[in-house]
Amino acid sequence: MSDQKRGMHGIWAGRWTFILAATGSAVGLGNLWKFPYITGENGGGAFVLVYLACILLAGMPVMLAEVLLGRKKRMSPINTMAAMTDETGAPGFFRGIGWMGALSGFFILSFYSVIAGWALLYVGKIASGAMVGVDADGSGAAFGAMLADPVGLTIWHTLFMFLTGAVIARGVNKGLEASLKVLMPVLFILMLILFGYSLTTPGFMQGFHFLFDFDFSKLTTESIVVALGHSFFTLSLGMGAIMAYGAYMPGKQSLGRTIIWVGALDTIVALVAGMIIFAIVFSNGLEPSSGPGLMFVSLPIAFGSMPGGIFFGTVFFILVSIAALSSALSIAEPAVAWAVEKGISRLVSTIVIFGVAWFIGLGSVLSFNDWANYQAFVFVSEMDLVSGAEDKIHTAFHLFANVDVLKAEYVNTAAVSYHIVGKTFFDSLDFLTSNIMLPLGGLCIAIFVGWFMSSDMVKKEVNTKNEALFTVWRFVLRFVSPVAILLIFINGLGLL
Ligand code: TRP
Repeated sequence: MSDQKRGMHGIWAGRWTFILAATGSAVGLGNLWKFPYITGENGGGAFVLVYLACILLAGMPVMLAEVLLGRKKRMSPINTMAAMTDETGAPGFFRGIGWMGALSGFFILSFYSVIAGWALLYVGKIASGAMVGVDADGSGAAFGAMLADPVGLTIWHTLFMFLTGAVIARGVNKGLEASLKVLMPVLFILMLILFGYSLTTPGFMQGFHFLFDFDFSKLTTESIVVALGHSFFTLSLGMGAIMAYGAYMPGKQSLGRTIIWVGALDTIVALVAGMIIFAIVFSNGLEPSSGPGLMFVSLPIAFGSMPGGIFFGTVFFILVSIAALSSALSIAEPAVAWAVEKGISRLVSTIVIFGVAWFIGLGSVLSFNDWANYQAFVFVSEMDLVSGAEDKIHTAFHLFANVDVLKAEYVNTAAVSYHIVGKTFFDSLDFLTSNIMLPLGGLCIAIFVGWFMSSDMVKKEVNTKNEALFTVWRFVLRFVSPVAILLIFINGLGLL
């Protein structure tokens, strides 16, 4: 197949469409929901700095590599990597990039849809006026009540899967392109309104300092691993999503500038979301480290007290849902495109793939209620209350345990207190994908494009006139990105 020929899946209509689609993929729950809450859990400023460094030194270079691979072969990531591995004579193991990506896609889609379901539910919650005048306690209680209801969560998870599947089944060109053109600008405008509101809150500066003051004493190995993982997650990298979108990109378009747009927009949205949410968090005495509920608990307080809050709040959660949808499309596209290349119809491929992801998602639904006690990687550590020393060598480790049973076993006394932490099904999938599979995929892609494709081959595909930038990019991709990812990985192993 000639490189310039359009693939079997269609092609983006215009020069801006790829930017729109890739930004639609990148900007999603990762920016609005995940970035603020993991920043809160990891102590703020220093974490943000490491995250920005990861975007620049690993994320952006790998994004360019992914897009050029996709555009060169114009096929699903699985077939693209197979063809490129043959063409370059790289070890057969690199074919695995496509397969691992498809597997990550199933896992990510499964829990992503559950969280997006929360956003859908919040559209109705805010629109009904139930959150008007709500305070921190009331908002927290509403969120807790939502989590406690597995049937409700399943209904919204199912609806989100259905909506996303309906768009995917129609193919990428129709539905998506037209809607994104309107939605992305509206999302930006609403964020500006919220940002304006947050400036009027008493906690704005405290939130700002929390995000941008670099206190390195708060930085742990785990937070560095999380920062790296999130830089891949937020840019949709390491599993072929952007590779699949690159496959639909017109042949002539120069890649460098395109990529910079996507990375910049994604980063801006995350930082603005962070400033808004932490302003509200500190103004209302919320806990920055309160976890996945952070956005869902803090924003309704703002909407509940600002003029026009019901309207703005409703529109905002609609936009969050749509931002999630446009991201979820790209998570599913690699697997769907592969099935279509196998000769299966797009409709049947969509139904099967979304069905499997929906089913795995039920595990995440239950993680917040009935299965909350069943956790993996459970560490028990012991704190000596007399000396204040924490047992560095964990008292006990369980690969899998019912933490309620453990809590009954390790009873706190006046002399010692026990700290029991593990990962629910949802936490485990999130950790496995973001912090292991995506960086590993990114590492392999960097090595593949950096070391197994010749400079000429790459240059032809990137199609840039900016020699200096090309040289810098290729150097970073060959040396800096892989070494950084490897170092973080090796350090991360110490966590186990
Ligand atoms: N980047 C999206 C977000 O921030 C999520 C996403 C879309 C994604 N496609 C992906 C994450 C591929 C990992 C891999 O919400």
